[in-house]
Amino acid sequence: MCTACSRNPIEPSSSDCLYDTIEPFRIRSLEPIPLLSREERQKALERAGYNLFGLQADEVTIDLLTDSGTGAMSSAQWSALLSGDESYAGSTSFRHLEKVVRRLTGHQHVFPVHQGRAAERILAETLLGPGKVVLNNTHFDTTRANFTNAGALAIDLPIPEAVQHEHPFPFKGNMDLNRLQQALEHNASSVAFVMMTLTNNATGGHPVSLANLEAVRDLCIVYNVPLMLDAARFAENAWFVQQREPGFSDWPVKDIAQCAFMMADGFTLSAKKDGLVHIGGLLCTKRQDWAERFREALILGEGFTTYGGLAGRDLDAMAIGLQEALDPLYLRYRIGSVAYLAQQIEAQGLPVLQPPGGHAVYIDARKCLPHISPNEFPADVLANALYVEGGVRGVGIGTLMFPQANQHLTRLAIPRRVYTRAHMDYVALVAGRVMAKADSLTGLKIIKAPKTLRHFSATLAPVDGKEETRSHSG
Ligand code: F0G
Repeated sequence: MCTACSRNPIEPSSSDCLYDTIEPFRIRSLEPIPLLSREERQKALERAGYNLFGLQADEVTIDLLTDSGTGAMSSAQWSALLSGDESYAGSTSFRHLEKVVRRLTGHQHVFPVHQGRAAERILAETLLGPGKVVLNNTHFDTTRANFTNAGALAIDLPIPEAVQHEHPFPFKGNMDLNRLQQALEHNASSVAFVMMTLTNNATGGHPVSLANLEAVRDLCIVYNVPLMLDAARFAENAWFVQQREPGFSDWPVKDIAQCAFMMADGFTLSAKKDGLVHIGGLLCTKRQDWAERFREALILGEGFTTYGGLAGRDLDAMAIGLQEALDPLYLRYRIGSVAYLAQQIEAQGLPVLQPPGGHAVYIDARKCLPHISPNEFPADVLANALYVEGGVRGVGIGTLMFPQANQHLTRLAIPRRVYTRAHMDYVALVAGRVMAKADSLTGLKIIKAPKTLRHFSATLAPVDGKEETRSHSG
């Protein structure tokens, strides 16, 4: 509920809410953004092997590559860094974090790690192996890679609406309950755990409803299989539940988040998202038997249990960030700015995934570039074109990233508390200019790529030898 006008800020009827037009913070520390010429950007892209991960940060004007670790910390977080306790064992900073996490989640065993994938690796090392299966609404790429690297089978069970880009269903992050039941019926003994990714990043940053999570939890109980959460965006998910799920509009987002955490046996959490920090993560559980195994693996690979892979000061910043992420004023601005960018980009004629997700706008690159064959990576072609046109760096979520999937999305992920509405307007204008010359863009081919997570370091080239974005210089 909007505290300024007492209306639901997501509803169109509240478009007259004054507070929806401003960022709920003022800026006290400035970072100039690089403004390059088109020619400089074209050269940078060639040098990067037509892969935006290969660009230098000072070659990017608006960086929407990821919302991970790229947010702005608050003055409260920066102050906490100074009082961080760097003791190897028994750090006071750890106690701060542990208290916040226990209170918020109800999970007693709290292990800090250097980022989300470290938690995934520990989970894979301790609970998975050949013959084991994990069922997820949709595994994020590092989650899948860590689980399969341990020899396990990672199966995605999204609902059918998740891939229907225009479908207005409000909880497209949900798990398909029929398929879950079938999978458990056939495999219960080999399923190590079921995992729910909140929000469901790989299919569009869509939320999971509490009703769906509860139904998944109930099936897990029936088949005696543990339930894990990938809670990287737990606060954004809770906000969507409050705004969209019948029966929750009066619940504080904190209570909704807590309710989700309480349903699970454990969770991984990349604090680089809703922890509002630049580095950090968590692996937590209610189960004593798991905690013992996690503790051993943590000490072996990350560090002692009271710091994980982090400095003490990072733990303090995370403790504060986890609480700030649940501030309704912040969440309204956060989710509102993603919705605003989606609206502006659509107004420029580019189809975007509906309804917009919590952390990113996903453009349907296949629809924008119907003349580019699915084998020629339209999602990456569009991302590259946005860079050449205006220095906007997004990422292709298509067959370069997920070779088996049949989706071609260009993701513009919004860092938390970093850009203003004027920046979003600029991004939409750039998108409009790219769309106006879409016919002239040509596909990409792989020159060199590693076997796993190939999108990070693949070298690409235009299929026809011409520069795919050069034909109409503006
Ligand atoms: N789970 C989800 C749902 C994620 O989105 C990510 C990271 C991770 C786990 C891994 O966490 O990066 O701290 O190791 N997502 C980033 C992104 C990289 O751009 O979507 P990490």
